[in-house]
Amino acid sequence: MKRIVSGIKPTGTLTLGNYIGAIKQFVLLQQSMPEDEFFLFIADLHALTTPQEPTELRKRIKEIAGMYLACGLNPEKTVFYIQSEIKEHAELGYLLQCFTYMGELERMTQYKDKVKKQESSLSSAMFTYPSLMAADIILYDADFVPVGDDQKQHLELTRDIASRFNGRFRDFFTVPEPIIPKVGSRIMDLQNPEKKMSKSDESDKGYVSLFDDPNIILKKIKSAVTDSIGIVQYDVDNQPGIANLLTIYTSMTDESIENIVSKYNGLGYKEFKEDLATIVSKKVGEIQQRYNEIISSNTLDNILDQGRQIAQQIAYKKLEKCKQKLGLGRKRK
Ligand code: AMP
Ligand code: TRP
Repeated sequence: MKRIVSGIKPTGTLTLGNYIGAIKQFVLLQQSMPEDEFFLFIADLHALTTPQEPTELRKRIKEIAGMYLACGLNPEKTVFYIQSEIKEHAELGYLLQCFTYMGELERMTQYKDKVKKQESSLSSAMFTYPSLMAADIILYDADFVPVGDDQKQHLELTRDIASRFNGRFRDFFTVPEPIIPKVGSRIMDLQNPEKKMSKSDESDKGYVSLFDDPNIILKKIKSAVTDSIGIVQYDVDNQPGIANLLTIYTSMTDESIENIVSKYNGLGYKEFKEDLATIVSKKVGEIQQRYNEIISSNTLDNILDQGRQIAQQIAYKKLEKCKQKLGLGRKRK
């Protein structure tokens, strides 16, 4: 039996990019690995690396957890919990900082991008965040970590940190493998297909939120930027907008790109975009309906309580052993 662990940061809204690149992949993976254990947490400590309004953060934690369930996460097969409710994450995060080099953190592109974008008031936690992420993973001896393409570098660092620790203290942590989806790992902005679809965008026309009204979703997809070539085909270099819409189409319907392309052979972008708009808004509408049912009951709290209990026991034991290895505190009898 293998253990799969992943986390999601409760900042901004959830986008179609998150759905296709992360949530859906997680649900599919869960279906394809029925014998394995799935741990999923809401990474609220990670959210604090940038300033958060407390009421808003608390609301988001619930929203995101509810949305994961609405998107098909199987609660019976998932240890689903909130990161900050398990103190061991933060503690191991600190310990792993002692095994992470400054140079490694300085090389993280996510951090470098933030620095480039002026942000002079960047918190130091933004810099050390990959060590906390490593802790989230190796605390549970994860075998696999499903993440989007943008987290690959953090995963590589996690492996380095785990191996470094193992090198000094004999095999102690499992060195995790990333699982990165081939299709849909990078859904692009609808208005600027050179850029990743992101909830932190200034303009909301470029992304579809899973909380958007279905009518708004229709409009956003129909007004997605295309090109003047006029042929529906998959050509990322010359038709990045259409390629992105094709990726969304295949992800939402599970129809192959080849099939979709032949279906729109000889038709213009208008039909293609209209169909896709209907597909996405209908699908998201159904998810929202399930979401409303979940949020108005107490199932979510029960699931998160249960998850906390299971995660807590594992985390406690692993951290205690880790501290013993490091020579911290007094020897346990
Ligand atoms: P974030 O929203 O950046 O906290 O990312 C949460 C998860 O969604 C990560 O696994 C990301 O890789 C994934 N993700 C975020 N944006 C996209 C996107 N535009 N396309 C595909 N996956 C994404
Ligand atoms: N850093 C991830 C993101 O921004 C979220 C995350 C935190 C995570 N801890 C993790 C993902 C552990 C996988 C495993 O999306």
